[in-house]
Amino acid sequence: MRTTLIAGNWKMNMGPRETEAFFENLSKEKLASPKKTEALICPPFISLISAATRLASLPWVKIGAQNVHFENNGAYTGEISTSMLQEAGCTHVIIGHSERREYFGETDTIIQKKTRKVLESGLTPITCVGEVLEERKSGSHFDVVTTQVKGAFEGFSTAEMEATVIAYEPVWAIGTGETASPEQAQEMHAHIRSILAEMFGSETAENVRILYGGSMKPENAGELLAKRDVDGGLIGGASLAASSFAELIRIAEAS
Ligand code: PGA
Repeated sequence: MRTTLIAGNWKMNMGPRETEAFFENLSKEKLASPKKTEALICPPFISLISAATRLASLPWVKIGAQNVHFENNGAYTGEISTSMLQEAGCTHVIIGHSERREYFGETDTIIQKKTRKVLESGLTPITCVGEVLEERKSGSHFDVVTTQVKGAFEGFSTAEMEATVIAYEPVWAIGTGETASPEQAQEMHAHIRSILAEMFGSETAENVRILYGGSMKPENAGELLAKRDVDGGLIGGASLAASSFAELIRIAEAS
């Protein structure tokens, strides 16, 4: 049984004051504690403490980070460690988002190291994969995602794999308003599960949660979440307003 995860990726948006306002607005939504959905918000590092201190009134919301370094501590200017994130109240970390691959040179090797470090520290990694538009157009998207999955998770134990959440985010659908159709999402999620089955066996493959990301919003979440292999969403733009984040939780609870 895979619990649906609705994860907000705020990217480089929402400073501490805006974060406080978001949680105040989310409290006003009067959502009952979700029964079958996990809710997660991943603010920028600077806003993590503001978010964590607001959770007393929303104990069912979890807090995650958008990146982390793979070393414990030391001379890594500008970086942040897993223990610092835990101290700030994080339970999850997004790893290898396509924006980190594209603008910050993160490779499958770095992504594997970071995912491992997050697992070792007892946090939950949400490790991202996904093809760019040219790869989809040329028909190489399945191969591209296969390489990313193998590059990120080769050598993992079945326990490590089952503790990892995968986010499939077709880059052409991120922030563009263009969403993968539910069929396209399902087809790739099933493909990812088949690679996991080859690598770790079918039981582990069935237990790994695979989120969809790329312009998911209240208008399209229901049909995406209805697909067999879509276990939640990694949501950028539509997670920035408390009202639409709350609506996504309601949709996940109803689906
Ligand atoms: P989007 O971003 O929902 O704004 O497309 C998703 C993501 O990049 O995680």
